[in-house]
Amino acid sequence: MKLVVISNRVAPFDPNKPQTGGLAAGLEPVVERFGALWMGSSDTRGDGTDQPLPLVKTGAGDVARLDLPEADYPGYYRGFSNSTLWPAMHSLHQRMSGAEGDYDSYRNVNAFIARAAFDVRDRDVFWVHDYHLLPLAAELHRLGVDRPTGFFLHTPWPAPDMIEHVPRHRELMKSMLEYDLLGFQTNRDLNNFLACLRVYFGLKSKDGIVTTGRGQTRLQKFPIGIDPRQFAEHLAAELSPAEEEKLSSLLEKFEGSKFAIGVDRLDYTKGIDKRVEAFNHVLAANPGSISLLQIAPSSRADVGEYQKYKEGVENAISQVNAEHGTDERSAILYSNDSFSQAALARLYRAANVGVVTPLRDGMNLVAKEYVAAQDPNDPGVLVLSKFAGAAEDFSEDEALLVDPNHPEEIAEAISRATNMPLEERVRRWRSMIDKIESYTIPDWSADYLRELHKSRITVPADQFH
Ligand code: G6P
Repeated sequence: MKLVVISNRVAPFDPNKPQTGGLAAGLEPVVERFGALWMGSSDTRGDGTDQPLPLVKTGAGDVARLDLPEADYPGYYRGFSNSTLWPAMHSLHQRMSGAEGDYDSYRNVNAFIARAAFDVRDRDVFWVHDYHLLPLAAELHRLGVDRPTGFFLHTPWPAPDMIEHVPRHRELMKSMLEYDLLGFQTNRDLNNFLACLRVYFGLKSKDGIVTTGRGQTRLQKFPIGIDPRQFAEHLAAELSPAEEEKLSSLLEKFEGSKFAIGVDRLDYTKGIDKRVEAFNHVLAANPGSISLLQIAPSSRADVGEYQKYKEGVENAISQVNAEHGTDERSAILYSNDSFSQAALARLYRAANVGVVTPLRDGMNLVAKEYVAAQDPNDPGVLVLSKFAGAAEDFSEDEALLVDPNHPEEIAEAISRATNMPLEERVRRWRSMIDKIESYTIPDWSADYLRELHKSRITVPADQFH
């Protein structure tokens, strides 16, 4: 079985380099496990003419980083993917913008990637990921490629009214029905998609299958997890001397006091601004009770909304620090640096509270990683947004669930977490880690590929385990 994984972003395949986002972190072990070929974007652009696949060995798998066409790249990546689809998927239509021609560029890049995938010999199964590539199956079919082709959406899928804001939404959804299997993170996303099919096409699913003139599409939720064993290895891993020094000097700043940690790409969906406001409330009520370490590597910096958001967050942090910081200690320590998984694991373990408060999020693996990194005898507490996919996995008896739009509510949860007795912390943590261990990323990928197999009979099922 030759699995071809296709996504816009490809992992760096270097333990010392940080991953950008949950998708790359999640797919790297899948590619290694199945010895898959991973196709995606390189950091350079091409002239749009088709080229031989630039194959590089990664360990068990291979990677092909494509030079996407220069002329279409801005409209595809900055434009349609990240200024139109991304905010719409997160139900933030006020953040949407778009230019004439973005959609055409988006389609052109999808067609370019499909042509490159067409060139892969021994291609048995295609597994396509995320909103950049909604119409890829349609482009593959146009080329006459007819292999099992599945899609997994790492972001949320919004309600029908929100999709209405996306230009060509009907055409896009119709092209998604060219996949054999559509995977979503949560029931909420799956139900929203089904509602869109009802509203826009009058289509209904029967036993999780939608039938169209093309054939059948299965729809199912597959909540992505982490690999707790690999995470334990991260915890035990040695850091490079430079990173070790950076980490020690960070942790020194919190010595003798409690601290919470937030780790997010600097993205307006992550609710960092509201979190900062929440800390303002916490510290006004209980000066010095806890500080925040906010790690926020900069992201999509050429998209205007991201620049505005960064400025807003940084001003808010300066104000909180001016009001509540002392000469010895900042109330909020803020860093745009990226850290390796091993360094993050150590920081998670040291932090008393993990604050994961996105306005909306597909899953949010930081929530699961924070839990996996805790000391079983003295675990920290997870404060989690109700609108992160992870909140469908963790109940109120486990994480402290909050509405990420309300700083006062987040503040209350942070104060509760700061003062939570050991016995309650252990009880909540035990229940979360059991869940994390019972559905890991290897389970997720095996489940998905087994379902994809069910949609076609060309690949033996025992190849997916
Ligand atoms: C989210 C998306 C991924 C994306 C990642 C990083 O996790 O779901 O598809 O790769 O953000 O964003 P970037 O634009 O840097 O790839």
